[in-house]
Amino acid sequence: MKEKILVFDTTLRDGEQSPGASLNVQEKVEIARQLEKLGVDIIEAGFPASSPLQFEAVERVAGESAAVVAALSRAVESDILSAWKALSRAKKPRIHTFISTSDIHIQGKFASDRYGRTLDEKRRTVLRMAVDAVAYAKSLCGDVEFSAEDAGRTDPGYLAEITEAVIAAGATTVNIPDTTGYTWPSEFGRKIADLRSRVPNIGEATISVHCHNDLGLAVANTLSALENGARQAECSINGIGERAGNASLEEIVMALKVRSDLHDFETAVDTREIYRTSRMVSTFTGIIVQPNKAIVGENAFSHESGIHQDGMLKNRQTYEVMTPESVGVPKTSIVLGRHSGKHGLKARLEALGYAIADEELEPVYRRFMEIADKKKEVYDDDLRFLMGDTLADRGSAYTLDYLHINSGTASIPTATVRILFRDRVYEESATGDGPVDACFRAIERALSISSMVTGYTVRSATAGREALGEAQVRIRDAERSYTGRGVSTDIIEASARAYIQALGLRLEHEENTTNETTEHGV
Ligand code: KIV
Ligand code: ZN
Repeated sequence: MKEKILVFDTTLRDGEQSPGASLNVQEKVEIARQLEKLGVDIIEAGFPASSPLQFEAVERVAGESAAVVAALSRAVESDILSAWKALSRAKKPRIHTFISTSDIHIQGKFASDRYGRTLDEKRRTVLRMAVDAVAYAKSLCGDVEFSAEDAGRTDPGYLAEITEAVIAAGATTVNIPDTTGYTWPSEFGRKIADLRSRVPNIGEATISVHCHNDLGLAVANTLSALENGARQAECSINGIGERAGNASLEEIVMALKVRSDLHDFETAVDTREIYRTSRMVSTFTGIIVQPNKAIVGENAFSHESGIHQDGMLKNRQTYEVMTPESVGVPKTSIVLGRHSGKHGLKARLEALGYAIADEELEPVYRRFMEIADKKKEVYDDDLRFLMGDTLADRGSAYTLDYLHINSGTASIPTATVRILFRDRVYEESATGDGPVDACFRAIERALSISSMVTGYTVRSATAGREALGEAQVRIRDAERSYTGRGVSTDIIEASARAYIQALGLRLEHEENTTNETTEHGV
């Protein structure tokens, strides 16, 4: 008999906390649909108390998902209630509440005397807050997860005490996060084994782990924890998340599958959906998958050297421990063109994992035709970028209506832009060091705003000189960064779209952030 490992996907919550990654509500809904196809057990959809947009995203995902949908909350009543309200339409809701338990966190986040004067007093306060939070969550929802933030660096005796207390208060899952990615695989495994031996009621809850990748050990730590009794793995697609990210879902799942000779674990993940999910998350978040990334990187199944190629031709197992088909890497890419109709486009998008309703198809088809007019052949990767662009643009505050660039070896680059913003038209021109600079200056002048650009990249979506170009522009304000993306066969236009989108995200954030999560927050 195989033992089931629950896969808890936090792409939409911790993953979205990756610097520069911001997903709009529609993109989160699309990703959640794909996560369901992938077969994850739990989708952590967001942190509802942190902003109205987070609340709306959790509400939308909860409303249509058959999987367990989790919402994060600090260990305070208002957050828990907000999580519960956002989950009101969920078939299987889970409230996930957390508080820091390591001394270093307690002394930093609970420095005020009102939490106690000595470390011991502060620890007592944290324990009481954790128990109260779980008891309150339990009064609302049967499925309650408690996370001991920075458990990786928490004193083992105190971790055991708090674990026992929250289980007694009703927690059905106890999560042991290695929040700072500090632990070593055998050490982390021992931590789980130690907890099982110290906590008398541990059998009443599922042990979960949530490992960060600061030392590149997140997946190894997760596997070690599973070997020692954890039965839920928290992870994200492409390993995205705070700082160096979370344990990557695809690596955990494929490691368990490929090395099933070493254990009796199984997951419900349909591994053939992995590649599609990875590409969707990458295009929507704008976070590029490194080419040598295990399982889903562009080079994961390519063989460069002659010796390797020769070996592969004789027997694929010579250099491959799994097949590309097993993770859904497509063999060929189907090509669409300007003669393709709406049905053909819809069918191809569905095959790529985008469930698109008939009434949503029109704007996508319009962009598709613009692109098909310029480049004869439209590949799967073009379509992914196009979908990312169209969904990100939807609901965006600013729309680029017109762009004219004058540039050349002997002229001063000049740009004119026309932008639509809430039923008004803003038009301006500017010169710059180059066409992109001129364009950004014209946008800033038109909207009477400016921003610090901290990152700018342009890459081609597909091969060939007619390829679509994708521009990414990252901007920063005092608090956080925002990444905008733009796609076009013209890279200056793509850049303008990306800058406008990043500015729109900043505006949206400023207008929607009501509840800053600074005090003992994430
Ligand atoms: O890394 C962490 O500790 C977290 C918790 C909120 C689960 O993300
Ligand atoms: Zn985390």
